[in-house]
Amino acid sequence: MSAPVELQVAASPVSPPLVLRPWSMKDVAALVEVNRDPALRRWSNSVVDNDADGARWVQAQQQDWAAGNRFCFAVLEAQPGSVREQLVGNLVLKEVASGKPAAEVGYWTAAHARARGVAPRALEALTNWAFDTFAADGLERLELRHQVDNPASCRVAQKSRYDFDTILPAAPPSFPRDGHLHIRRTSA
Ligand SMILES: CC(C)(COP(=O)(O)OP(=O)(O)OC[C@H]1O[C@@H](n2cnc3c(N)ncnc32)[C@H](O)[C@@H]1OP(=O)(O)O)[C@@H](O)C(=O)NCCC(=O)NCCS
Repeated sequence: MSAPVELQVAASPVSPPLVLRPWSMKDVAALVEVNRDPALRRWSNSVVDNDADGARWVQAQQQDWAAGNRFCFAVLEAQPGSVREQLVGNLVLKEVASGKPAAEVGYWTAAHARARGVAPRALEALTNWAFDTFAADGLERLELRHQVDNPASCRVAQKSRYDFDTILPAAPPSFPRDGHLHIRRTSA
């Protein structure tokens, strides 16, 4: 991907506008801070404990962008009365390959920003970008997986028009309980 990607999301009645852009080293301190949240640590595959971890994680995301198979976005929210934006979430498009019909999405929202529709609004922007960018190269559907005991994530899928498809059997250690597979297709 040559040009830097920046996706804009309009304000909602309860929330300022959002910007999605690739992770940068300037996000490391905020990334470490949001990773203190036990819920995020429970559901995330990679946990960031300190600045060194954070820098390694951001560098890995940048390498994946360059490789063109995994695209991870920091989600930032405008702060009323300030020029600074605040880190509120993470969205990822992964398992992308030329000619492959399916890719996968994932997300988290910082604890301080939950219950304001950040994840579904950002996911809508990511979904549109993914189909706009990769449909010509064969992308037809986006898959979303969550464990059965994560109803908040199931709600994000429903609100984002990722239809329930099937029950997924547990696959420890990364997926210890049964889950749901939700799918959104290009035509949805
Ligand atoms: C799942 C998650 C991404 C939702 O993000 P969000 O930006 O809060 O999304 P929404 O505002 O649309 O809320 C989704 C649901 O969260 C639940 N919720 C409401 N308030 C909440 C709160 N204070 N804390 C946690 N969840 C809450 C509700 O079920 C809500 O659905 P509703 O709008 O129908 O009431 C977020 O809870 C999170 O980051 N969890 C930890 C990481 C995770 O589970 N990632 C997904 C792995 S598959």
